[in-house]
Amino acid sequence: MPLAADLDPDPHVLEVELVAQEADLQLRPGPPTHLFTYSGSLPGPMLRLRQGDRLLVHFRNELSEPTSIHWHGVRLDNPMDGAPPHTQTPVMPGETFDYDFVVPDAGTFWYHPHVRSAAQVGFGMYGALIVDPPTGPESAELLGDELVVVLSDISLDDDNRLVEPDSGGELATLFGREGEPVLANGKQRAWLLATRGLRQRWRMINASRSRYFQLDLGGQPFTQIGGDAGLLSQLVETAAPVIVPGGRADLVVEPAGTAHDSLPMQWVPFDRGFGSTEFRVPVTLFSVSLSETEASEPLPLSPVAVPVELLSAEGATPVDLELTQRTALDGSLELGINGVPFDESAPIPASVGETQLWTVTNRMAFSHPFHLHGFFFQPLDEDGVSVGEWRDTVDVPRDDGKLRFLVRYDNRPGMWMFHCHILDHADAGMMGMVDLRQ
Ligand code: C2O
Ligand code: CU
Repeated sequence: MPLAADLDPDPHVLEVELVAQEADLQLRPGPPTHLFTYSGSLPGPMLRLRQGDRLLVHFRNELSEPTSIHWHGVRLDNPMDGAPPHTQTPVMPGETFDYDFVVPDAGTFWYHPHVRSAAQVGFGMYGALIVDPPTGPESAELLGDELVVVLSDISLDDDNRLVEPDSGGELATLFGREGEPVLANGKQRAWLLATRGLRQRWRMINASRSRYFQLDLGGQPFTQIGGDAGLLSQLVETAAPVIVPGGRADLVVEPAGTAHDSLPMQWVPFDRGFGSTEFRVPVTLFSVSLSETEASEPLPLSPVAVPVELLSAEGATPVDLELTQRTALDGSLELGINGVPFDESAPIPASVGETQLWTVTNRMAFSHPFHLHGFFFQPLDEDGVSVGEWRDTVDVPRDDGKLRFLVRYDNRPGMWMFHCHILDHADAGMMGMVDLRQ
């Protein structure tokens, strides 16, 4: 991925220009595809800075429709959240907007539009935002080779043209549109040359509209060292990590095999509701090609994150939500929260300093990845105890599944959105707002 050029010599300021623009890119054999992009590349330029640094983005919209940039997962001030019409007016064609904020947390984040988001993200607008700790990448010598991987998919027809964002009608909206081909860093079936025995750290971002990424490297074990909000305080061993749309996972793996082996890193169907696994087969995202030479034995991997301060539910204000669907008077499908679509919903009141205990219940037959803007939250386990991890995008399983979490609001008042990160669902009304006041 291209790295955005820094226009400011100050080491603590990353000043970049990003342009929303159409571009022709070769995604697979045949004619090039006419896409929407950030600055002409897919994914958009990677932004990388250190915790506490200032990010200044001069954004220009050269598309023929309004757009914005939302900084997914970043605890920024409300006017910089990029969520029109509530935090700013949309950036109209030919207009500019400066995003200017400090990045308070180290971790793996990403950026994408928040106007007609299923369409615009589906057309190619997304990029990685990586925030390193102030002292530099965490113990690089312990972690081995690092790669940022933006996972996505795109809906192309036989002539490599983008498919209309409403193709398939309401049934496709209800399911959430998954495209072909599936892409890793904008490429189909790329190669990664890996040194045998050398630890690989893959920071993975799911930037697709609707596709859950369940991953498989021939059953080899992954260690998850980080998630939505940077490093975890506990390492998690898993052979089949699942990254929901909008979510991130920081995975460590030591690809095992003999010299010149090629290991397929695969997308594996994940059951998120009817049609998500039936007659579907794994897709190779990229191939890991093992070197002739072997690295020396890696040092043991140790957890690097500081322990998470556990929030307590005592005195927390309960907030109860249901993810729902209904048929509108004209017979069309409406998704919503507590029975009403976003445009009929009342914001959830909150005040600075308050802690809330949310219970999100999913009455539908499809799972939904729930995302809250601007704040990390702590999911609770079945006994109501915090799992000790900060998240911003978490799956709510289908058929009466529940997500319970605690959120504490710091002093950043404003209108903060929450929604399903299946962007077709968000656009169909499964979205709401927190009205945070002083
Ligand atoms: Cu990834 Cu409303 O955002
Ligand atoms: Cu959904």
